[in-house]
Amino acid sequence: MEIEQLLAERAEMVDAELPALLSSIKPPELAAAVAYAIASKGKRIRSALVTLSSEAVGGTARQASFAAASIELIHSSSLVLDDVIDKSEKRRGGDTVHIKWGTDMALLTVQVLAALSLKLASRDPRLIRAIADSFLYMGEGEAMELVDYVRDKNTYIDLAFRKTGSLFGSAAEVGSLVGGGDDKETGSLLGFGNHIGIAFQIRDDILDCISSEHDLGKPVKKDLFMGRPSIVVIDALNSGISLEQMMKCNNGQLMHLVADSIDHAEETAQEELVLAMAHIEKLDDSPAKNKLITLGEYILSRSK
Ligand code: IPE
Ligand code: IPE
Ligand code: MG
Ligand code: MG
Repeated sequence: MEIEQLLAERAEMVDAELPALLSSIKPPELAAAVAYAIASKGKRIRSALVTLSSEAVGGTARQASFAAASIELIHSSSLVLDDVIDKSEKRRGGDTVHIKWGTDMALLTVQVLAALSLKLASRDPRLIRAIADSFLYMGEGEAMELVDYVRDKNTYIDLAFRKTGSLFGSAAEVGSLVGGGDDKETGSLLGFGNHIGIAFQIRDDILDCISSEHDLGKPVKKDLFMGRPSIVVIDALNSGISLEQMMKCNNGQLMHLVADSIDHAEETAQEELVLAMAHIEKLDDSPAKNKLITLGEYILSRSK
């Protein structure tokens, strides 16, 4: 099955959970901002990871759909906050929440999305701890970017785990929990999620250098101009290319200038995928396991 078809099919199931949550939010401006953040559709990768993980341990996608929606809401909340911090004006092809409603309303949208996520998760209290873990890690990861903290590959991997890998890990973990996975299965899925999430962030850093705002639906070269620790930029700096040289380039020139660092980033993402596969191999064979492997491979080649 094509990966796009797989994601679309699962998105429908998860999206069905969301409208009921929005009915009682006041005032209408806040309700509109929250609805906008939810309605602007992303790739829904993390929620697919939840439902597939449930199936991979013998559960169903349907019994995991509330957990998938809960994870997708954490993701939405982190994007609204990240766009405030990164001063990004575009997300998923549209204006960001803080551009449309202002920063104060955007911060309140972050809080409400997080609350809605917890509301859904409270249907199964085991999910609360997993979700708390990724909230905490994501906060740490975003903060690490704001201080001059990340200058080498190992620290970068730790950052990518906190900022992005941890939520992929929690997604796979909660999928396993609601699907009835035992401790070993849940541990394997958590490890798989963490590592494909790190690979996902590395691919995001590469796309920031080689893609366009038109294709990604969000600004590019943001890492460079905001001084964010992208694996490509860190490696280029460590190999003697200056920030000034990089900032002078147009997209095509940048790709050429940092070509070796892009290769290095691709190799690092591949290493993370190998680590992820070592975890998933421990699960019994199933169609869902194969789909998880396909999802992991897609992360490295994605162009969106
Ligand atoms: C963007 O995540 C944030 C990162 C962790 C790089 P996605 O690329 O999954 O965002 P959407 O949900 O598809 O918009
Ligand atoms: C995304 O951070 C990670 C979180 C939202 C926690 P980035 O700043 O690297 O991602 P984009 O490029 O804005 O999606
Ligand atoms: Mg950002
Ligand atoms: Mg950011």
